[in-house]
Amino acid sequence: MSRLIREDQGWIRAFLDEAENERMHLMTFIHTAKPTLPERGLIMFGQAVFFNTCFFLYLFAPKTAHRVAGYLEEEAVVSYTLYLAEIDAGRVEDVAAPKIALEYRYLAPNARLRDVVIAVRADEAKHRDVNQKFADLLAASVSKRAIK
Ligand SMILES: [Fe+2]
Ligand SMILES: [Fe+2]
Repeated sequence: MSRLIREDQGWIRAFLDEAENERMHLMTFIHTAKPTLPERGLIMFGQAVFFNTCFFLYLFAPKTAHRVAGYLEEEAVVSYTLYLAEIDAGRVEDVAAPKIALEYRYLAPNARLRDVVIAVRADEAKHRDVNQKFADLLAASVSKRAIK
């Protein structure tokens, strides 16, 4: 890690990829839901709280931070599954996928919201597994140090 001035073993690349992926989730759903100004304010407030909480959690307890992220990603998988059920039940309109999602994901030009949600849910499952793996690796390095 650069914070500890030692080789990062490719972790930073994984974090940057995940951050870019999440940014695209946000942009995709901003283009789909077109939030009002107060709703945008609420999103920004939520991001400010979340960013600072994660920052301090990662600073003092990185293993726990990855574990929490892993559980939140699992919750995201569940939420997108419920979202899909709403689309399939016709309670949410299966609108055309926004252009930004088509470009980012190389989806077919006739892709719908349902296709985007399935792709995003797969991303969240990957984030869950990556974060749980990082937490496992940190736990293993802590127990290795305890044995020495
Ligand atoms: Fe996401
Ligand atoms: Fe995620």
